[in-house]
Amino acid sequence: MIWEGLIARLSLVEGSFDDLDAFARLAAVLVDLDHRRGKVGNYVFYLSVPPSAFATVCNQLAEIGLNRPQRGWRRVVVEKPFGHDLSSSRELGQVLEQVFPPSSIYRIDHYLGKETVQNILALRFANGMFEPLWNNRHIDHVQITMAETVGVAGRAGYYDGVGAARDVIQNHLLQLLALVAMEEPVAFDADSIAAEKIKILSAAELLGPLAQTSARGQYGPGMANGHPVVGLTGEAGFPLESTTETFAALTVGIGTRRWAGVPFYIRTGKRLARKATEIAVTFAPPSHGSAAVRTTAVSNVLVFRVQPDDGIELHIGAKRPGGGMDIQPVSLGMDFRSVFDQAPKRTSG
Ligand code: BG6
Repeated sequence: MIWEGLIARLSLVEGSFDDLDAFARLAAVLVDLDHRRGKVGNYVFYLSVPPSAFATVCNQLAEIGLNRPQRGWRRVVVEKPFGHDLSSSRELGQVLEQVFPPSSIYRIDHYLGKETVQNILALRFANGMFEPLWNNRHIDHVQITMAETVGVAGRAGYYDGVGAARDVIQNHLLQLLALVAMEEPVAFDADSIAAEKIKILSAAELLGPLAQTSARGQYGPGMANGHPVVGLTGEAGFPLESTTETFAALTVGIGTRRWAGVPFYIRTGKRLARKATEIAVTFAPPSHGSAAVRTTAVSNVLVFRVQPDDGIELHIGAKRPGGGMDIQPVSLGMDFRSVFDQAPKRTSG
């Protein structure tokens, strides 16, 4: 029913990126649709195209005048990778900004649409009990993990030469890091949140030479879900000599008064044993107390389970019933499905 209503509203304009006529046809279709449906001409150009084609497509849109609204607004959406280093990223920014004003350019990251990710700020700032502990006096380290069971089959054109660090660390996982570490924004709007994230990312630093603070790997052949699977270089489209990493790990510090000395361990990989994206904040052990309790104490860990089984968990130590002081780890949990009686909004990349 919904699908039928939707397809009745879809139009297809075919053409190659360098074909200006195709963009002229696109413009004509849009004008016609506006006219027939009584719309004002609000257009979003979602560039689901290889990054190497961004400049050509933007220039064609400009050539045909589609970037300049008569009425309504124009927006352009691009997905990562936004270049492969600082200078190529700036170059991409310049290309986009020649055609669209900065406020119309959307660099999207689908992780920010996940409920549990949005909940990081809610949990931190809507509750009084976490913020007093949220610093290097009480937090020992933070682990940010994105483990996947899937390989990269079918995505060679995009993934080869990009690799895990550029695919998910520089965007999804650094966004998680920023949300965990940032100060409270003055308002919950895009500019205020971005301002705080920028401060954290500007203060992020490697905690030593790359050789000691990072690791890269590539999956080889093996078994997944009980079936044999090929290694990366056996996947269609990957050359045998590909050195593209499918696993990457990095230790990052944040040079601020709040975080100095706290390592943030970031890691991701494909074809790992289980799928799990989570942030584990490990608190420092009690600094004093009875020696008997201290020696058996367990780590307090606050875990944001981004997926699957979206939820929040707090690991604490509790005394096992019976004689003696036998402390064992127990966990207090909240899962979104049962609490809010519906699956949290999910996005997929
Ligand atoms: C995408 C990456 O951005 O995120 C993929 O390009 C990755 O390589 C995907 O598999 C994971 O998304 P999610 O929402 O399943 O964690």
